Amino acid sequence: MARPKIALIGGGQIGGVLAQLCALRELGDVVLFDIVENMPQGKTLDIAEAAPVDGFDVSVTGTNTYEDIAGANVVIVTAGLPRKPGMSRDDLIGVNSKIMTSVAEGIRDNAPDAFVIIISNPLDAMVTLCQKVTGFPSSRVMGQAGVLDSARFQAFIAWELGVSVKDVNAMTLGGHGDTMVPLVRYASVNGIPVLELLEQKYGSAEKANEVMTAMVERTKAAGGEVVKLLGNGSAFYSPASSAVAMAESILRDQKRVLPVCALLNGEFGVDGFYVGVPCVLGSDGIEKIIEFKLDATEQALMDNSVEAVKELVGSMNL
Ligand code: APR
Repeated sequence: MARPKIALIGGGQIGGVLAQLCALRELGDVVLFDIVENMPQGKTLDIAEAAPVDGFDVSVTGTNTYEDIAGANVVIVTAGLPRKPGMSRDDLIGVNSKIMTSVAEGIRDNAPDAFVIIISNPLDAMVTLCQKVTGFPSSRVMGQAGVLDSARFQAFIAWELGVSVKDVNAMTLGGHGDTMVPLVRYASVNGIPVLELLEQKYGSAEKANEVMTAMVERTKAAGGEVVKLLGNGSAFYSPASSAVAMAESILRDQKRVLPVCALLNGEFGVDGFYVGVPCVLGSDGIEKIIEFKLDATEQALMDNSVEAVKELVGSMNL
């Protein structure tokens, strides 16, 4: 049986890490596409030459030709500009929607059966555009944001409580922007509410709420925190890891429940827009959107986030 094939569109910072992670995990043969001549060939040659050291048996190649992505099972898109310090993700919409249109055409024409995971920002708008241009079913076109936003939230909680990241469960919903919704009520350490553990640590509910609010705010601004420190470009290790988790769940039919930017059809009161929600990811792509009850405060935050997504998507005049 042929190995699965993973095409990566965009061979920049995230694309390079994606290629290496896919190879290390032997998810399948990797093709890295970029418009810059020689660069994807150079990066993948470098990665492939580590195969004897790391012991992975997959091929990793670079290309400037869309025909080479033919037969890809999964395509991960990072093509587009990253933000600079002081920019919001939304500031990228003009330039990145042009790039996304050409990328989506390339995928539509050369890998018509692929599952597509978008990372390019502004995420919610870029996924919407990609689905429109490819015409692929929405179960096959999705965005990576929630896995990373949730991972950041989980990391902050683990560091605060001095427990393993493996035992922290927490999730964000909504758009991938300043309005994202880290869910406080469901954040737990092996099922024990984080707020209760914070209250034990600090001795008062008031202080626990204060510390939690600070972690929520840090989560919402976490991408910008990295952008500011880097001085040039945006986060690339963690977005790559997050997209690989999604690709792996699809390719290995793991049926993981991950927050995914998915097209909603009435769930959470949203119709016809891409928003971050928990989904079951398996060999059919988005196999199920998991809806659950939000309280009034959470629903209001979700509605606010959806409004921001609608405004952003509306500005593309699709
Ligand atoms: N087709 C394919 N690749 C393209 C195109 C195009 N039309 N236009 C630009 N690219 C490539 C660039 O040549 C570059 O190699 O996209 C790559 C982007 O890489 P980086 O600039 O290093 O950006 P990166 O940090 O990888 O982020 C990519 O993901 O998280 C988002 O906001 C981020 O939108 C940005 C994207």
